[in-house]
Amino acid sequence: MSWHPHLWHPTTQVATSPEPLQVRSARGSELELADGRRLIDAISSWWVTLHGHAEPAIAAAVARQAHVLEQVIFANFSHAPAEQLATRLSALSGLERLFFSDNGSTAVEVALKIAWQWWQNQGNPHRKQLIAFEGAYHGDTFGAMALGERSLFSDPFEPLLFAVARVAWPHTHWHDSGLDAREQAALGQLEAALQTPTAAVILEPLIQGASGMRIVRPAFLRAVAARVQSAGALLIADEVFTGFGRTGALFACQKAGIQPDLMALSKGLTGGFLPMGVTMASERIHRGFISETPGHTFFHGHSFTANPLGCAAALASLDLLQADPPRYQDFESRHRPLLEQLSSHALVRRPRSLGTMAAFDLDIGPESYLNPVGKRLQQLCLEQGVYLRPLGNVVYLLPPLSISDAQLERCYGVLADVLPKLS
Ligand SMILES: Cc1ncc(COP(=O)(O)O)c(C=O)c1O
Repeated sequence: MSWHPHLWHPTTQVATSPEPLQVRSARGSELELADGRRLIDAISSWWVTLHGHAEPAIAAAVARQAHVLEQVIFANFSHAPAEQLATRLSALSGLERLFFSDNGSTAVEVALKIAWQWWQNQGNPHRKQLIAFEGAYHGDTFGAMALGERSLFSDPFEPLLFAVARVAWPHTHWHDSGLDAREQAALGQLEAALQTPTAAVILEPLIQGASGMRIVRPAFLRAVAARVQSAGALLIADEVFTGFGRTGALFACQKAGIQPDLMALSKGLTGGFLPMGVTMASERIHRGFISETPGHTFFHGHSFTANPLGCAAALASLDLLQADPPRYQDFESRHRPLLEQLSSHALVRRPRSLGTMAAFDLDIGPESYLNPVGKRLQQLCLEQGVYLRPLGNVVYLLPPLSISDAQLERCYGVLADVLPKLS
């Protein structure tokens, strides 16, 4: 195999990366390659494959919908799959309104634009500050990039990114100490930042994914939410990664005990079948856009808004989730003993788990996305049939819910085998 002459792969440096692997098919937790090899997809294909690949109930729902209504412009028209999904997600999230877009980044862009325009519509354009957290990742489009921590990814675009006030993210792991002081310091920073009139504060509830699976305590988030609320700013929860059971609750906000004004969802929304994002908003926010003044309209829309196939997939995925909550609620107890065992290895630092996610840092080289140890580990695991994609020196597993005990044990077994080969 060689690089395809007409394709451009995401976040991939052709000069230094191995060629992509050809996938023929996928089922459950396994990918089948064109050469017949099978790999356990231990990161749910960038965190989207919720139940499993080619989940039959979702595949059937999409196929049924494709024969009935595949797409219709969503200005002037509505349809049952969109309405059903909005009704169900409203009830589940506690946010009454649903606005459709296409992916996680656009779901965040929409949340940001709604929050910003809401203040304008209120006749209060002075609330100009946006607050985000250190290490945040909210997507690759411009608004989402600006909200995210500045990094190698955003460096070339720095002059084009708007300013954001940033607050420390006091993340923790199993054997942490001194956390209270770090949390208090972060809350102090937030209080200071909130002295400036603020439109919105955005956070990834309970866990920052892309910056290295960095978990905070629910009590910290509750303290953040209380301060945001008393300052009158809007709270945006980016649940693109954490939504749909990933943290052990349907939404991380529920587990943390916070209620945001806006919530961005994508990835697991369609069970990982189709690209779709949604932004949930409270009725109070929605009312701020109802007006005889044309300029108060939310002038934002994507061609594929509320794609019926995506809605059908999302409804089928929700059916599966709601039919068997212990599948995601109890997942952490499957990780824990296996990660505990692995933690005795000298290279394993800061073991941590949350819901379907388990992670640790490799004690080799710098704490950096560019630390090559992650790629070495990836290669060694691939040779043994497990697909991982470490974030620099941070190794994590985020398998589909359908992964069997034997497959999960295999992932940890391969890691145990590979770790001594790294030093
Ligand atoms: C928390 C969070 N927000 C937003 C995004 C962007 O989502 P997408 O890649 O679908 O644009 C991601 C993607 O990893 C994410 O983890």
